[in-house]
Amino acid sequence: MTSDHWQTIKAMPQLSLNQMFEKDGDRVSRFALQHAGLYFDFSKTHLDEDLVGAFRDMADTLGLSAKREALIAGEPVNISEGRAAEHCAERGIGNPASVDNAHALHQRMKSLIEVIDSGALGEFRHIIHLGIGGSALGPKMLHEALKLGDEKYELAVVSNIDGVALEPVLERFDAGKTLLVIASKTFTTAETLLNAQSVIDWMTEEGIADPRGQVVALTADPEQAVEWGVDETRILPFSETVGGRYSLWSSIGFSVALALGYDVFADLLAGAAAMDRHFQDTPWSRNIPVLAAFADQYYTQVRGCETRAVFAYDERLGLVPDYLQQLEMESNGKSVTLDGAPLALHSSPIVWGGVGTDAQHAVFQLLHQGSHLVPVEFLAVIEAGDSLSPAHHNGLLLNCFAQGAALMAGKKSDDSHRNYQGDRPSVTILLEELEASSLGALLAFYEHRTFVNAVLLNINPFDQFGVELGKQMANKLAAEDGNRLDASTEELKKRAFGA
Ligand code: F6P
Repeated sequence: MTSDHWQTIKAMPQLSLNQMFEKDGDRVSRFALQHAGLYFDFSKTHLDEDLVGAFRDMADTLGLSAKREALIAGEPVNISEGRAAEHCAERGIGNPASVDNAHALHQRMKSLIEVIDSGALGEFRHIIHLGIGGSALGPKMLHEALKLGDEKYELAVVSNIDGVALEPVLERFDAGKTLLVIASKTFTTAETLLNAQSVIDWMTEEGIADPRGQVVALTADPEQAVEWGVDETRILPFSETVGGRYSLWSSIGFSVALALGYDVFADLLAGAAAMDRHFQDTPWSRNIPVLAAFADQYYTQVRGCETRAVFAYDERLGLVPDYLQQLEMESNGKSVTLDGAPLALHSSPIVWGGVGTDAQHAVFQLLHQGSHLVPVEFLAVIEAGDSLSPAHHNGLLLNCFAQGAALMAGKKSDDSHRNYQGDRPSVTILLEELEASSLGALLAFYEHRTFVNAVLLNINPFDQFGVELGKQMANKLAAEDGNRLDASTEELKKRAFGA
């Protein structure tokens, strides 16, 4: 019974972070772990050996080990849809048939990149990557993080149905030199298909004789892409068992691999595989994604934290919080357990965040003195990404480290306005360098942490039925079939479109 474990955990005496450091001179070496070019410092969380031990027992009761094996072996862990979740196979870890299939599909992607690079399909200089959710957030974030600025192709990732997102790209790009990449697992997503049609219309208006000859499709449903008019030779399929928010490792990564080079993409996969192996082989108390999930569950269930904030102290990682919002909230924003019973625990915390140091001058007031307890995650890179005076990068890192220290230490004052309570937890993740392999390991860490959280909650992290109702309602509202929605919504429609 996991309720017994929760009772034990909730009844455990809890020292403050300052007290924990005073008590244990080795706390940093005990709770900071290093792997694949990353350093994870959990010492400023309330994890201690007893708490980790209690969560370890809970994980064993919930069958974490068997569930991890089932995930990696390609068993149908997504039980509501009867599907496996085989993102690890994309990185070469998993069911041999799935690993072979992923490898073959990657080779196909690599060959198409070589053909495009050779100029055989046209002299492309611009890439418009259209997709939304997992078909855009990962590629956009990767490109922002890893681009050097001197690449052969300029890549624009457009997701929103709002024409304000697409129009400036069309104004900037040369239609004759533009490759249109349509990324959609289902190839039915309304936003992506409307944007794709608008790009085709633009190419036609610009005098391109065969606009569909400039299209590449990335999808798990090649038939839909063929029906839409994409030539089979330019469709890069991926497996149905790779979920949308886990798909950047599949052909959904094509635009990034084309823009930055296939080797960069291969390094990304290798870095993720290094984290997969760590997750697979390491005992719970030294297992980085597992420890992170233990801390997540402690703060959510025991301390009542409803949010977790992630701050990238590196402009290049500025889109990581957006990417994590989908990964964590679409995966673990559920209210029923695996067997369909109501979930008695809080599901995913609301993930939010931004970029340091900017955020310090905007939202950190609440983190330091607000009444909410918000576990914070700091992401930083030791090697500078700029060649200006070292004062910039040094200042960036020092500010980052100082925030974690201040949140934890606090500062007593007789003036209550100037009092800092302290004892506020944070995790700091340091990348030695921002390169494809360390970023791959970081993203795989986040995926496994999300999975472990789902196991501890006993929920299915691999479906997303919650987003369907909104889509259905949008269609219903668009239909002129006399079926009306509520009066408030109908009035909004009338004001926008007339009676
Ligand atoms: O609506 C949610 C969602 O299905 C996400 O899970 C997915 O990443 C996104 O839409 C895009 O879907 P697709 O890749 O099929 O266009």
